[in-house]
Amino acid sequence: MAHAYIEDLSKHVGQEVEIRGWLYNRRESGSIQFLIFRDGTGLVQGVLTKKDPAFEKAKQLSQESSVKVCGTVKEEKRAPGGYELILKDFEIVQRVEGDYPISHKEHGPDFLLNHRHLWMRTPRQAAILRVRHEVMQAMRDFFDERGFIATESPIFTPSACEGTTTLFEVNYFDENKAYLSQSGQLYLEATAMALGRVYWIGPAFRAEKSKTRKHLTEFWMLEAEMAYFEQPQNIELQEALVKYIVQRCLEKRVRELNDLGRNTSMLEAVLKEPFARLLYNDAIKLCNELCKEKIAKGEVEEIPWGGDFGAPHEEALGAHFGRPVFIEKMPAMMKAFYMEPDPANPDLVLAADLIAPEGYGELIGGSQRISDIDLLKKRLKEFGLPEEPYQWYIDLRKYGGVPHSGFGMGVERTVSWICGLEHLREAIPFPRTIYRLTP
Ligand code: 4AD
Ligand code: MG
Repeated sequence: MAHAYIEDLSKHVGQEVEIRGWLYNRRESGSIQFLIFRDGTGLVQGVLTKKDPAFEKAKQLSQESSVKVCGTVKEEKRAPGGYELILKDFEIVQRVEGDYPISHKEHGPDFLLNHRHLWMRTPRQAAILRVRHEVMQAMRDFFDERGFIATESPIFTPSACEGTTTLFEVNYFDENKAYLSQSGQLYLEATAMALGRVYWIGPAFRAEKSKTRKHLTEFWMLEAEMAYFEQPQNIELQEALVKYIVQRCLEKRVRELNDLGRNTSMLEAVLKEPFARLLYNDAIKLCNELCKEKIAKGEVEEIPWGGDFGAPHEEALGAHFGRPVFIEKMPAMMKAFYMEPDPANPDLVLAADLIAPEGYGELIGGSQRISDIDLLKKRLKEFGLPEEPYQWYIDLRKYGGVPHSGFGMGVERTVSWICGLEHLREAIPFPRTIYRLTP
């Protein structure tokens, strides 16, 4: 008998197929048993009536027992997924003895996170991971269609990219120290000088002491770097990318988004208009104005010049614009050493952060990079960074330096926003946070 995946059942109506999966749930109602199976691609309900030979055997099936089932596919509007299996027989591959740890009751987040290896089987978690796949695939397709070259950056690095306070140190032979990469950017700049336009999706590590729902210690970042791109072109590319990802998920993962209860009209709105754009100086004024009452009550802090946006400010901006917002030209002192100063005001840099609507925070951080060798050396000094480990990076300005730009986009932040999640920890198979290293 032909094996079929649950997501393809619509192609097999009227046929007998084999499903290879697990029992998700079983329910008995008098002379009928409803067995819900999952196989990683979706859920399907199987039906058995008392007169069926397999009826009694089915009662042995416990939650998450692995099974191969065969039955005839029938259209059934009321069933989850729209199709049903009229069960003929099944073979138990491994029967779960005793109780499966994750029941259909509510469990607390700690319990679920401790059982992440099993929790990910639940339909909601599996749907999120399928959307994650789509987001990452859309990222790759976007750049591949535009002629970018996919490349890689090292994970063991000798120096910091994004400030020295969030570095993870590891012992590296002969008493040398290495750091886990915070961002592949510096290396991508070198690769962009070799290949023109490059991207990669890779892990990034930050010893973030913050316990917020938007920070992981290990996360994945999409990074792109383009030779001969100045900041306006960089921003244009980012906007096109975000729209491409949203469009793709709306096209291909609408079932998952509906199962997650995501209000997709919020995502459709993103495609309709250009993103909002604000200068940093205007953005802090607007945020302080939008949060005026809460600031007066002492519930929210006023942003000083040079200060960062907090969660309440980002939420206020999202509610105000209802679409993603670029915040441009931040004070140089609050940003990384490598950013190109604004020619009109050297206290500012040619950088932009993209803030998601609905309080999902910063999705993208990007900038034009310094291309002048003397300015770069001066900046390293101002940031208290030694020149020696950055020598190769300085070389890029010595041997054919050009204006260039790039950005980094958080994969989990993006998935979280698209799925409408409460916390980033659901957006990655095995989350790592300040208090969590297991499973
Ligand atoms: O803004 P960030 O720190 O930028 C960089 O690292 C640049 N070097 C990237 C580049 O230009 N190539 O990080 C980029 C994005 C953020 O906007 C956010 O979406 C995500 O990475 N991010 C995190 N995601 C989860 N947990 C954390 N601790 C994160 N820190 C940053
Ligand atoms: Mg940033």
